[in-house]
Amino acid sequence: MKKTISLVLSMLMLLSLALTGCAAETQTTANSKEIILQIGNPQMTINGAEKPIDDNDTAPVIVNERTLLPVRAVVEEMGGSVLWNGETKEVTLNYGADEIKLTIDSKTAYLNGEGRELDTAPQIINDRTMLPIRFIAESFTFDVLWDGETQKITITKPETQAETEPETEPAIEPETEAQSKTLVVYFSATGTTKGLAEKVAKVAGADIVELVPSQPYTEADINYNSDCRANREQNDDTARPEIANVIENFDSYDTVIIGHPIWWGTVPRIIYTFMDSYDLSGKDVYMFCTSGSSGISTAVSDVKKYAPDANIIDGMRGTSSTDESQIKSWLEGNGYKK
Ligand SMILES: Cc1cc2nc3c(=O)[nH]c(=O)nc-3n(C[C@H](O)[C@H](O)[C@H](O)COP(=O)(O)O)c2cc1C
Repeated sequence: MKKTISLVLSMLMLLSLALTGCAAETQTTANSKEIILQIGNPQMTINGAEKPIDDNDTAPVIVNERTLLPVRAVVEEMGGSVLWNGETKEVTLNYGADEIKLTIDSKTAYLNGEGRELDTAPQIINDRTMLPIRFIAESFTFDVLWDGETQKITITKPETQAETEPETEPAIEPETEAQSKTLVVYFSATGTTKGLAEKVAKVAGADIVELVPSQPYTEADINYNSDCRANREQNDDTARPEIANVIENFDSYDTVIIGHPIWWGTVPRIIYTFMDSYDLSGKDVYMFCTSGSSGISTAVSDVKKYAPDANIIDGMRGTSSTDESQIKSWLEGNGYKK
């Protein structure tokens, strides 16, 4: 087994040397990228600059003689995206024209729909999906150098490789393409959804507007352990709390991202007031929520029922610590393009 690993690593090293023409301390060019990771080290080096792999102190590890790398950090640094489906435990990685689908603890992976056997199944370590180095290298054709002495892995994206778009698809000049416009519209009673909405708008490159209730919700209004206003509204199908502000040029947006807290498992009634006032027909709609623990699926299906002509694409439950890379993966993983 050890011999096979050394052989594979040596081959990768030779391949890398052949392609890059020099050793680990490669000079990177504007379009190339070099990531250096080290076993047990939660810091990585991107084109010479050190930064943490993630907020969880994740570090590459060796498990059963295989080097496992935190896949999200590597793929996102290379310009790809990672989408995690917690329910099915599936991970979808997109890079350039290639798509990999993996399932945690399963040795079968799919590269562009074609089944591939892995010798080590992806694992969750420290809340992060960890993948064998060889699989990443082979699938996404990154160059990989392994230095056994320092236990460092140097991953290089060759200069010629595309950033995110498949090479076969010609880039559309922004000047000639009709600019698609996105609006983040959100309601937030205590500020949690507001914080997330601001990050979503930044990642999506979208305009943002808050649904401001004409009658603001007081603390007593949302004290859901009592017979409060919010509870009464949620129990009343016809409740439509009035919105104080007007959304300008709503028709000019072709994508709408709706953010809201979960109230009794679904959207607060003010979202229905919004849907009564603004027509979502034909628009691409993404939804996100914050909540104590409930998921977003009921909210999504309720909105789908209420706006059957909207193209409701997906929903994401976030928290105040959801970061921009997670939002980016979610949006891009669901076909969103700026
Ligand atoms: C009336 C009411 C009902 C709620 N119902 C739920 C619920 O069913 N499930 C849940 O996980 N959280 C529930 N929550 C918690 C909120 O979804 C959570 O605190 C949310 O992050 C608040 O967002 P905001 O700060 O943007 O208002 C409820 C909160 C209120 C006020």
